Amino acid sequence: MATRVQWLGHSCLLFESDGRRVLVDPFLTGNPAAAARAEEVAADLICISHGHGDHIGDAVAIARRTGATVLSNYEISEWLQAGDRNLPKVLGLQHGGGVLFDGFVHVKLTLAFHGSALPDGSNGGNPCGFLLTFADGTKIYDAADTGLFGDMKLIGEEGLDLALLPIGDFYTMGPDDALRAVKFLEPKRVVPIHFNTFPPIRQDAGAWATRVRQETKTEPTVLTPGEWLNLN
Ligand code: NI
Ligand code: MN
Repeated sequence: MATRVQWLGHSCLLFESDGRRVLVDPFLTGNPAAAARAEEVAADLICISHGHGDHIGDAVAIARRTGATVLSNYEISEWLQAGDRNLPKVLGLQHGGGVLFDGFVHVKLTLAFHGSALPDGSNGGNPCGFLLTFADGTKIYDAADTGLFGDMKLIGEEGLDLALLPIGDFYTMGPDDALRAVKFLEPKRVVPIHFNTFPPIRQDAGAWATRVRQETKTEPTVLTPGEWLNLN
């Protein structure tokens, strides 16, 4: 069994393990960095970290087309079932809670410090990150949109194979705090996300990776949108 991840641009990630797929924060339509179209991406499970448009993105359309279950916080799960969205398969968790989905991935909601209003102004609850544990034991932390917080140390105690951290600054952690996050989390590998999509979050990811390599034992990988990283 093998687990790998593809960066589809911004915060959109596609995890594949044993032939099954978890799609996170599927913002593709209108994403200038998107490496796939919403009409073609596959998913068995779609995870949404918070209500902002650059994360919930195409989730409803992709769920309708693929029949994927959508996992998010309780408030967003209610919104996904309401009105003309009317999605039949949703899971609404809250922070600290987790669920084993279809026997292939356990998903736990972690804290995140950010906003979560939905595109129509509805209450999107509180934003989250994700701790994903695949059946082959691969453990991945996707911080999604957040500032630095000290309890990342607790997440790191889980023993991470990979952390995905925003480095864009302005809306989330910038490079300096993301480097501190690597020191808290001590993952085997780290991949930067949520940068260069728009002018306010332009960053030199290569320079950041050099600092990670110099100051930590973590192996940084800067992906280009569309690129895969094998984790085992
Ligand atoms: Ni956001
Ligand atoms: Mn964002």
